[in-house]
Amino acid sequence: MQVVETIEALRVARKTLLGSVGLVPTMGALHKGHLSLVQQAKAENDVVIVTIFVNPTQFAANEDLAAYPRDLPHDLTMLEEIGVDLVFTPTPSLIYPQGYQTYVEVEAISQGLEGGHRPGHFRGVATVVAKLFNLTQPDKAYFGQKDAQQAAVIKAMARDLNFSLDVVVCPIQREADGLAMSSRNIYLDSVQRQAATILYKALIAAQDTYEAGKHDPQALRQVMQNVLMEEALAELDYVSVADARTLIEAESDANKPLLLSMAVKIGRTRLIDNIVLPMRFNAFEELFSLLGSG
Ligand code: PAJ
Repeated sequence: MQVVETIEALRVARKTLLGSVGLVPTMGALHKGHLSLVQQAKAENDVVIVTIFVNPTQFAANEDLAAYPRDLPHDLTMLEEIGVDLVFTPTPSLIYPQGYQTYVEVEAISQGLEGGHRPGHFRGVATVVAKLFNLTQPDKAYFGQKDAQQAAVIKAMARDLNFSLDVVVCPIQREADGLAMSSRNIYLDSVQRQAATILYKALIAAQDTYEAGKHDPQALRQVMQNVLMEEALAELDYVSVADARTLIEAESDANKPLLLSMAVKIGRTRLIDNIVLPMRFNAFEELFSLLGSG
């Protein structure tokens, strides 16, 4: 496995890679969710590039950039074991040198949900991912449904800016009790960790309601809210039932795929989770080929 830090070294290493290239962009502190993306990239490509970069432009001033978990030696061990070919680990000043002034703005699909609560977040994400696409020239790039709006933003960007690659969206990996795997889960103490299971419980309660025939978006929001209110440690940022193609809040129960999502603070840790209904849309390719297409 080659590990490179500079842009020059990446360009040299990229030229030595033969065949189809799968890219998995990450911010490190890797867990089985990240590794599932790497596995899928390995299965579908001749070689796999992983990037590890905690991207400052996607964190707001009040967010956890400085405290974001970092463990590069452990990350590299895991990537070596799984058989990654090339890892790019740049520093912020290599990605954003002095005088840096170019940003990518994906408009409508960035507005609601996470974008509404984290102004500028998707501008930072789209910018760094565009740069990583240019630098690594992948045939396919892999993202998790865990960050569903992020996947939709990247799909829209790749289409609008004519990147010649496929954006592949991979299923959410969960702990045995349903908690979505996340680098931020290590912030939780044992009481908070137990409380964090409430997100998936709320999604499952809404799914049960939906499958019992009640498709009214407002009723589904209410079900999620009611479950979340049962957990004293959970502080609600938002719950959403949105049209899975546009990410605009659904108002009527027209027969369309829905993205049910939420952001919840447990102590100081902000957690997100989602599911797509009907469940048959967890044929991910089908769903996310609609996402981002407006
Ligand atoms: P990061 O949070 O490290 O996540 C990297 C990728 O792993 C993302 O595509 C994310 O959706 C996916 N992922 C995280 N947890 C997952 C889980 N439990 N199951 C499946 N996939 C999971 O997302 C980012 O980094 C950054 O915004 C990035 C795209 C790298 C741009 O800086």
